[in-house]
Amino acid sequence: MKIICAHDYQDMSRKAANIISAQVIMKPNCVLGLATGGTPLGMYAQLINWYNKGDIDFSEVTTINLDEYRGLPREHEQSYWYFMHKNFFEHINIRLDHVYVPDGANTDAEKACKEYDEIIHRFGGVDMQLLGIGVDGHIGFNEPGAAFELGTHCVDLAESTIEANKRFFASADEVPRQAYTMGIKTIMQARKVLLIANGKAKAKAMRTAFFGPVTPAVPASILQMHPDLTVVADEEAWSECPEVIGQ
Ligand code: PGA
Repeated sequence: MKIICAHDYQDMSRKAANIISAQVIMKPNCVLGLATGGTPLGMYAQLINWYNKGDIDFSEVTTINLDEYRGLPREHEQSYWYFMHKNFFEHINIRLDHVYVPDGANTDAEKACKEYDEIIHRFGGVDMQLLGIGVDGHIGFNEPGAAFELGTHCVDLAESTIEANKRFFASADEVPRQAYTMGIKTIMQARKVLLIANGKAKAKAMRTAFFGPVTPAVPASILQMHPDLTVVADEEAWSECPEVIGQ
């Protein structure tokens, strides 16, 4: 596990963008596993900025996103498909037939998840998987208690996740109760994993995920076993980890 301590959100975003950028330069036709949420927004903005300067070319890249709300069509403003297009894909030269997000409009969960695993398999797996982390230690929508051996599957969202995500909807009642997510098995099969985090709210999750026992109670803790994991987080997110802050 490679641990990087950034000063603040902007520094975290730039460092993470550098790592993604290096991946794309080293393997122009790579498969990037991407994530939504507030955390990666600054990183996407930085990558767009470098794209505009001619420093990075996404024309051969394929992206496979982590998760999607079950029941939200692509055009819904809170769908993750919409998020990715608005915040990233529309601003770079990625081919739109090279981007994949689980099909939230397909409410046949078994079929939607199976199709997604087939897509990941068809591309030979993910080269670099980007992850955020939930306040409860979730990755993707793999909530505490998630089985480590699952591929893409349908999950019930934890109350804390509905609570954290309600800011994007008119009310908590409108937050979908289920989602399709890559499983821990899918995530662990990525050749490289890059997890990013910022802010005090994540400090406890960072401590239990990276300096506690590996347990399904903290889904991100399994990443300690990944052979090529990089964690980039700011000082606030590392504030409960003297092992890092004291470095
Ligand atoms: P956030 O979400 O980036 O909006 O904090 C991260 C997550 O829940 O995985």
